[in-house]
Amino acid sequence: GNDFVVLGVESSCDDTAAAVINSDGTILGECRVSQDQLTEEWGGVVPHVARDAHADAIQHVIESSLRDASMLPSDLDAIGVTMGPGLEVCLRVGYRAARALALKHDTEFVAINHLEAHVLVSRATKTAENIQFPFLTLLVSGGHCQLLMAYDVAQYEVLGGTLDDALGEAYDKTARLLGLQVGGGGGPALEKLARKGNPKAIPFPVPMHRRPDCNFSFAGLKTSVRVAIDKLGGDEQVQTDQSLMADIAASFQETAVRHLEQRVTRAMQLCDDRGTGVNTLVVSGGVAANAVIRTRLESVCATQGWSCSIPPMNLCTDNGVMVAWAAVERLRRGIADDHTNLDVRARWP
Ligand code: KG4
Ligand code: ZN
Repeated sequence: GNDFVVLGVESSCDDTAAAVINSDGTILGECRVSQDQLTEEWGGVVPHVARDAHADAIQHVIESSLRDASMLPSDLDAIGVTMGPGLEVCLRVGYRAARALALKHDTEFVAINHLEAHVLVSRATKTAENIQFPFLTLLVSGGHCQLLMAYDVAQYEVLGGTLDDALGEAYDKTARLLGLQVGGGGGPALEKLARKGNPKAIPFPVPMHRRPDCNFSFAGLKTSVRVAIDKLGGDEQVQTDQSLMADIAASFQETAVRHLEQRVTRAMQLCDDRGTGVNTLVVSGGVAANAVIRTRLESVCATQGWSCSIPPMNLCTDNGVMVAWAAVERLRRGIADDHTNLDVRARWP
């Protein structure tokens, strides 16, 4: 048949990851090394620290995903690697490793945009037979928060983006404000704490709820949390009271989710007004691993008569599968790149 095998390599932020997949989306081998521990120690992603950690892990993730797949580099039909957006020094680690492999084995090479990989991975999963272009997509990660119309591979229209922080960033900053141990990431830590709290305990204002467009803003919400903590007696006082902490976390999350719901609903109306006939929402990016966000957006879709697609949690946060899949999608359309005259791109909308 016309099946082919692709290696995906990812090193744009604080995960070093690789995966080998078949062009039908079957995952043959996968490996991911996270730098959560380092991010915790340094209180954030420090470029040269992250670069060194990628350099230490890159061969391992590539070799072990190949081993998982019982394959040799020479068995690969193509290699896809994230070339941006992200930290340049980090991106280069993945790019160089992928380029060296492609050169050595004369393998087809595909430069991948990390954001497009997040968006497209939904189409790789088995349940995705019905995810056809065009679709509406909400991309929520540590660096991005956007509503997009996806018309085809490489054809997107930005309906709205964040005016300040990305949603994952807001989770991370708020987790730090609350003094949480963020070893496994600020988002998951905050989500876990919020489970024990009352989401209605503190009525934070929903950002821009009187401005019916598709843009986002999370900086004000973060400030509201700061102000609330101060009113409640300050960091030390608040942090000794677990149920108060949980209430703050739950209230933050509730407000963030309501903001998402309003913007997604707005974007759906826009699709209807334009008579696009689009009625599928794809949610992607690291924050799409959040169980509350998943359920709430699913029910927005149900209410509007839309279908909702969210990748399994392990494909939401950064991974090699999404990069390999984005390469599959490009190769199917005859898009490949010349690996000799490329460079990574810190910004790549
Ligand atoms: O897509 P991703 O892995 O990396 C980027 O491309 O940015 O997203 C990472 C972001 C982090 O900000 C992390 O805190 C957030 O996604 N995140 C979550 C959850 N899991 C990851 N935020 C809220 N709830 C979660 N369960
Ligand atoms: Zn990402």
